[in-house]
Amino acid sequence: MDIIVTDDHDALSNKASEIILECIHQKPGSVLGLATGRTPVETYRKLVQAYEADRVDFSHVKVFHLDEYLGLDKDDSDSYSYYLHETLLDKVNLRKENIHLISERLLEKRRSLHHYDRLIDRNGGIDLQLLGIGSNGHIGFNEPDTDLYLDTHIAKLAKETIRTNRTLFNDKSKMPSKAITMGIRSVFKARRIILLASGPDKSDIMNDFIHSETITPSIPATFLKLHGNVTVIIDKAAAQKYLDKKGNDHDHIN
Ligand code: F6R
Repeated sequence: MDIIVTDDHDALSNKASEIILECIHQKPGSVLGLATGRTPVETYRKLVQAYEADRVDFSHVKVFHLDEYLGLDKDDSDSYSYYLHETLLDKVNLRKENIHLISERLLEKRRSLHHYDRLIDRNGGIDLQLLGIGSNGHIGFNEPDTDLYLDTHIAKLAKETIRTNRTLFNDKSKMPSKAITMGIRSVFKARRIILLASGPDKSDIMNDFIHSETITPSIPATFLKLHGNVTVIIDKAAAQKYLDKKGNDHDHIN
C-alpha cells in the first residue's frame, strides 16, 4: 500500500485528479469506480477543469457508482446520483450509455443486486476505483460488522454514518437508514484503488487503519491491505495521528 501525505486538501485533490487523468491517458476507455461524499468533490472539480482545458477526453470512459442511498428518488438533490451528475457527469463529455449508476429501479427490474457486479465484469472490470473512508472505517457503505458482504447488496447504515451524513442533507428528515453498496469483492476486483482521506475527523481512523496488523471487519478498510495496488492519499490533517505514531515507532526502533 503506497501512502502519499499531502500538505492540504487542495494538494490531495490535485494528486488524485492527476492519477485519474493519467489512467485515462493510458487507456482512453478506462472504467472508473466513483465514490461520493465530501472528500472527492474537489478532485472531481479538477477533472472538470482539465476537461475544460482540453487536457482529457471522457468520450470512451465508463463510470460505475460505488453506492447509493435506498429510498431516495434518483433526482432527489440528496441522492448520490444527483451529486455525481452535478459534480462531474454533466460537466464532461461522458456518453450517457457509459454512465452506470446504482438505481433502485434497475436493480428491482433485474431482481438481483448481483446484476450490478456482472455489469461491471461485462465492461471489463474497474481499472481505477476511487474511495473515501468513513470515520468508522467503512468503505462504500460496508459498515463495521461481524460479517462483510462480498457483492453489491443492501446495507444498514451505522448510527455514526447516519449522524454524520444527515448533516449534509438538505432535508434532514429524509436521511435514509439503508443504502445499496458495492461489496468488498466488488471493490477488491478493481485493478487499482485510490483511497482519499482528508481533515482532522479522519485522523483516528487513518491511524487505526494504516497501523492495523490484521484484517478485521470492525475496520472494513483493512481488507484493502490484501490488494496489491492501493494508493492512499491523505492530507496532513488526516495523517496527524498516523505520522505521530510512525515517529514514535521510529524513535523506539532507534
Ligand atoms: C460515498 C462513500 C462513503 C464515503 C465516506 C466518507 O460514496 O462510499 O464511504 O466515502 O463516508 O465520506 P466523506 O468524504 O463525506 O467524509
